[in-house]
Amino acid sequence: MVDYLRLSLTDRCNLNCVYCTPLEKAGFLKHDELLRHEELARAAAAFVRAGVTKIRLTGGEPLLKRNIVGLVHLLRAIPGLKELALTTNGLLLGPLAPELRAAGLDRVNISLDTLRRKTFQEITGSDGLARVWEGINASLAAGFSEVKLNAVLMKGVNSGEAPDFARLTGERPLTVRFIEFYPANARAARLKGALFTTAETKRSIEDALGPLEELPAARSDGPARVYKLPGAKGKIGFISGRSSYFCGACNRVRMDCTGRVYPCLFSPATHSLKDLLRAGAPDEALADYIRKIFLVKSNYKKDSSTAGHIEMSSLGG
Ligand code: GTP
Ligand code: 5AD
Repeated sequence: MVDYLRLSLTDRCNLNCVYCTPLEKAGFLKHDELLRHEELARAAAAFVRAGVTKIRLTGGEPLLKRNIVGLVHLLRAIPGLKELALTTNGLLLGPLAPELRAAGLDRVNISLDTLRRKTFQEITGSDGLARVWEGINASLAAGFSEVKLNAVLMKGVNSGEAPDFARLTGERPLTVRFIEFYPANARAARLKGALFTTAETKRSIEDALGPLEELPAARSDGPARVYKLPGAKGKIGFISGRSSYFCGACNRVRMDCTGRVYPCLFSPATHSLKDLLRAGAPDEALADYIRKIFLVKSNYKKDSSTAGHIEMSSLGG
């Protein structure tokens, strides 16, 4: 059952990560092609009508969206929406975290692949590590229900940092999750041999810090398997998109910032809501259209390992 919408708000990003930014990009989308706040809110409400209870805002970098706090307000007011979350690179999060929390954002996930300033610069093209930490600390202080860090480890780049990331969970109520590198687009495909698997990451942590305790699966874990170090305040999760297969449990669809809907991360966009929204379709017609998309997804779920070319940078992972 689909109950989770990942909503990409913009194709723009303020980082230039080695495995994400497209090699060839003809420029950013024009203002007119993007859904406006009211259109996004109507689309989101229709998804909720069709059964979605959790929405995660992604990008590009979602905090680059104009008046993101106002948009969070609009989305939070949708009746029936149980959880509103956001995935960000953290650069702009420090000053925004309290306002986002006050506007009703429940949770934030922050992408952070390294704890070293120089490596951060190499991976992202920016000297922004200190600002990301301001964002993390501001999020912990703002009272979100959970703060997760997402790290993609790559052999020969940052794979030696697994124990350092794990140590962060000792004193802070953070969930650090390791996401297996995926050669999603042409740029990522150039990083041959970069995959540092879940098994390798776990071994590296346990060699340095001792055995991890597996925690019982919680609904909020999604595809992650979650562990903790004995006595730690935080948790450690693994999202093993390469070495395991979790399509059967998939509960999510994705919409990009132009209204195109992707039933699966690896599928083409099969539908778009933009025309219906701009033609002023009634709420129930939008919800009906979305229910049809959910049906498409349920029909080819079993065959979604046929991974193709995807731009995580505009679809938000
Ligand atoms: P939670 O709501 O905290 O569970 O977050 P999430 O894991 O759903 O969202 P987040 O944006 O933090 O996701 C991090 C990354 O995990 C994504 O960008 C993907 O790379 C990976 N991921 C999440 N869901 C899937 C999925 O369904 N399939 C695959 N292969 N990878 C996924
Ligand atoms: N492989 C694995 N994860 C990726 N992400 C983006 N591109 C890739 C990739 N090629 C992750 C980011 C971020 C999330 C939104 O998507 O690291 O945490």
